[in-house]
Amino acid sequence: MSLNYSKKTLKHFRQPKNIGEIKNPDAMAEVGNMVCGDQLFFTLKVKDQKIKDIKFLSFGCASNIATASVMTEMVKGKKIEDAKNFDWNKIVAELEGLPKQKVHCSVLAVEGLKKVIAEYEKTNKKVSPVDKKSVKKIIKKKSVSKEKNKIVKKKKTSKK
Ligand code: FES
Repeated sequence: MSLNYSKKTLKHFRQPKNIGEIKNPDAMAEVGNMVCGDQLFFTLKVKDQKIKDIKFLSFGCASNIATASVMTEMVKGKKIEDAKNFDWNKIVAELEGLPKQKVHCSVLAVEGLKKVIAEYEKTNKKVSPVDKKSVKKIIKKKSVSKEKNKIVKKKKTSKK
């Protein structure tokens, strides 16, 4: 049985864009599909909260390669916040359709994108001024309650 791939999908499969690894990436992530066994590995570079570069390595099918290729082209230059909401339907539309059995390949590509962004955010988390204030409050509260405990303990021991 042969699958009906669009010309665009075949083009991205034969000449994939953004294939490889970024040197010194800001984040990296791997995703896989347990059913078909295909995998994708992403590396990401971010500048001014925008995707400066994104590359992938594929251990999968033609559609795995084509979907990752077109997706990386589509998200380059996007704000991180917008890329987080990227939908697999956009990949399918951009590739002018995918065979039904291969739609999950686009889902896997988006899973990889979301995971590499999550990794980036995990390692580059900045404490906002609001958070700093609440951290200070918590520290103050804790030290106050520690002091109270000390006083209570002293009183108890002096009563004995
Ligand atoms: S067949 Fe599973 S990702 Fe392509």
